[in-house]
Amino acid sequence: MLKQEAEDGLRSFADPQFRADVLAGLTARPRAIPARWFYDRRGSALFERITALPEYYPTRTEIGVLTACAPAVARLTGAARAVVEFGSGSSAKTPILLAAVAPSAYVPIDISGDFLRDSARALAAAHPGLPVLPVEADFLRPIALPGEVAGAPKLGFFPGSTIGNMGPRQAVDLLRAMRASLGEGAQLLIGMDRVKDASTLIAAYDDAAGVTAAFNLNLLARINRELDGTIPLDAFRHEARWNDAAARVEMHLAATRDAAFTVDGRPFAIAAGETIHTENSHKYGPRDARLLLRAGGWTPLTEWTDPDGLFAVILAEAQGEETAP
Ligand code: TRP
Repeated sequence: MLKQEAEDGLRSFADPQFRADVLAGLTARPRAIPARWFYDRRGSALFERITALPEYYPTRTEIGVLTACAPAVARLTGAARAVVEFGSGSSAKTPILLAAVAPSAYVPIDISGDFLRDSARALAAAHPGLPVLPVEADFLRPIALPGEVAGAPKLGFFPGSTIGNMGPRQAVDLLRAMRASLGEGAQLLIGMDRVKDASTLIAAYDDAAGVTAAFNLNLLARINRELDGTIPLDAFRHEARWNDAAARVEMHLAATRDAAFTVDGRPFAIAAGETIHTENSHKYGPRDARLLLRAGGWTPLTEWTDPDGLFAVILAEAQGEETAP
């Protein structure tokens, strides 16, 4: 028995939504499984390792940009905003912002209650006196914020270029939901990865040490373990592609030979060369980024980037309705 199976309990638990997403995703053409299912225990640990890889520039670049721009952000946002983070608190990035802006409260929002409570506890311990008010919710929809921050001006925080993991339609829906949650006059500090040469982009999602490959292939191992699957892992390889028309890096699991298998008792077949699409990471040029924000109801105020222009951090504001000329 594999160590992971011993830890998780062999086929002890299958999320019904995981089963539905995998069965539908293997049946669809093109095949695609939602990226949220990457993050079982091993997947989350592998993702942490990805963020430290030499080829994976976004995390360290964004931390550098945030560190450099934090004093300017503090001047532009003013004192005593409630910081509302979409996501459960990104270990290295959140403290940089909190230290600079001296917020009146910190409200992390996440759909996973466990991660949320753990990171909220750690942040509260590191910032004595700061009210930490976690909200367990799906931030793709408008959210009622805790009553304690009702009167405070808000600063939304959405780092990590997570917006890029959505398609443009879902990204605009999310920006509009954030605007509805935070209210007019709110500000939003958002990280967005920029378009750059394809070789740099592909290397970031296909590292020499094979950590991203292991991360992608772990999805198949999870399916086998939790959904009683017989997928032959050695019939698949990790593939990262730059889709220039859609301005995104795509991750796929590509079949290296014809393979037949079952998942949850259902038969599936894949031919050599066919793929299962597992992740998108959209990249935005400076004008693309500003247009996306404006489409979602946010007016860009200022933006910062690293000297090589790899990654942008943008401060935007929810202003009143645009009046047409
Ligand atoms: N949003 C980041 C990005 O697109 C982090 C991320 C999400 C990621 N899923 C990933 C990184 C899969 C590597 C592989 O880069």
